[in-house]
Amino acid sequence: MKHMATEFDDLPKGIQRSRALPDATLGALWHSIILPEDVKRRLVSQAVLNLTLRGKVDRSVLPLHGIILLVGPPGTGKTSLARGLAHRTAESFPGGKFRLLEVEPHTLTSSAMGKTQRAVSDLFSQAITEAAAAGPTVVLLDEVETLAADRSKMSLEANPIDIHRATDAVLVQLDVLAEKHPHLLFVATSNFPEAVDSAFTSRCDLVLPIPLPDREACALILKDCLGGLGRTYPAISKLANAPQFDQCAAACVGLDGRAIRKMVANALAATPATAMHPEKVTIADLLAAAKNAKASRITGGAA
Ligand SMILES: Nc1ncnc2c1ncn2[C@@H]1O[C@H](COP(=O)(O)OP(=O)(O)O)[C@@H](O)[C@H]1O
Ligand SMILES: [Mg+2]
Repeated sequence: MKHMATEFDDLPKGIQRSRALPDATLGALWHSIILPEDVKRRLVSQAVLNLTLRGKVDRSVLPLHGIILLVGPPGTGKTSLARGLAHRTAESFPGGKFRLLEVEPHTLTSSAMGKTQRAVSDLFSQAITEAAAAGPTVVLLDEVETLAADRSKMSLEANPIDIHRATDAVLVQLDVLAEKHPHLLFVATSNFPEAVDSAFTSRCDLVLPIPLPDREACALILKDCLGGLGRTYPAISKLANAPQFDQCAAACVGLDGRAIRKMVANALAATPATAMHPEKVTIADLLAAAKNAKASRITGGAA
């Protein structure tokens, strides 16, 4: 049966991965993303409401599509949160037999000219429809700007007619699916919300901006990272108590969560000696790495 597919089976075109929920790995992922508690609470509440209400209240009363969109700079944890949310949602309905499907938009849009629209249509009308008919389903539409590109901004160079039609196909299918499958939830992400078609955004039940970590969040991400390394190299977790730790956290403000964790890796690679014996890393190495990361951050780009 298709809906029982795992990542080891032949998945339908455009689906990168399919897994049963809840999944403890995704629970850990959810907890590893440090965000203000109310942001996470809003996300879970919106997802749960989608499942409790859509089957019972007419769409003429509340026109819900079952789509949540996370927007924000790259590296702020959107993809991780979307996966974690799928787990948290399933966990809220014990015994619900949920599945998570992850869509890989690039495999669809890289199809030969003229085939994108068909590939997108097939994905929604077949693979996603079958999964939704088999049980409650969460679909991750990662980097959705690729699938639902803003039709008003298309240039003639980039295969415009084809992508234009692909966006149309997505919108049509989302309406059909919203009508037929109240236990289907899309969680979409975008680094470039301005590149997402406004007809898509208008169908979203919630568009939630995911911010860069503030100073307090930077400190928590740094602590989480040092603590994780401490499980292998106990000396490293002690750096969180160093007098200069706060200065390090402050130096991270402006970096995204991914960049903070990468910066720690850079600190471990400060010298051949620390690279060979990571437990020798010092708080000064961390501070220098944080300052370097900030200085080399590419600014003024689309991010
Ligand atoms: N707010 C955060 N708290 C902790 N870790 C974070 C945070 N944001 C990003 N990260 C780290 O960065 C990695 C990449 O996050 P990802 O979900 O791929 O971000 P995005 O999809 O926004 O680019 C995550 O695995 C996580 O380790
Ligand atoms: Mg992502």
